[in-house]
Amino acid sequence: MSKLIWKPGTMIYPLPAVMVSCGSEPEEYNIITISWTGTICTDPAMCYISVRPGRHSYNIIKKNGEFVINLTTRSLAFATDWCGVKSGSRHNKFAEMGLTPVPASKVKAPMIMESPVNIECIVKEIKELGSHHMFISEVVAVNADNKYIDTKTGLFRLNDSNPLCYSHGKYYEMGQIIGKFGFSVEKKKRSNKSKKQ
Ligand SMILES: Cc1cc2nc3c(=O)[nH]c(=O)nc-3n(C[C@H](O)[C@H](O)[C@H](O)COP(=O)(O)O)c2cc1C
Repeated sequence: MSKLIWKPGTMIYPLPAVMVSCGSEPEEYNIITISWTGTICTDPAMCYISVRPGRHSYNIIKKNGEFVINLTTRSLAFATDWCGVKSGSRHNKFAEMGLTPVPASKVKAPMIMESPVNIECIVKEIKELGSHHMFISEVVAVNADNKYIDTKTGLFRLNDSNPLCYSHGKYYEMGQIIGKFGFSVEKKKRSNKSKKQ
């Protein structure tokens, strides 16, 4: 066996790159791109985002105690990157990226209309971990774009939106399906020939 041992670092990839929208009134509205995010509990539905205190968005989220996680797609890749390298202290990111702020159902923070899924979150706890502070939050509503609802089955087809992945500094779109939940333990279908025997 041959392995390199590196110093501790952030090596869990791939990750989503989401656009987090925040602010309680139009003058305050902002978008920050976040990869340090994830689900942490199913019931109640809870997730986290980790934000550096120096970010313009940090104080907005802390003051209002709420935000919206907007999932991103291939067509939102440019805006996702741009919102992750420019600061709301100098830019109106909604206007400059041609994104549309629309009212959320439970929080004052706006949702990004162009995103296929908008997850409304209320902050429950802030953990000051070090470089980043973790906003442990409860999901209070999920908004899904009708465009991705299969008219026949009623199922939500998020993968049709070309979700964006982030891995080691690069953005990717998703590839081929290689299995489904539980496929590793599914019994193989018997062929017609073996059924007859
Ligand atoms: C793909 C990507 C992922 C990022 N993830 C995070 C993150 O998880 N936490 C964070 O604090 N900043 C993250 N950033 C950096 C912020 O998005 C960036 O500093 C942004 O300009 C801050 O905007 P603001 O000053 O308007 O809040 C990320 C940037 C990119 C491009």
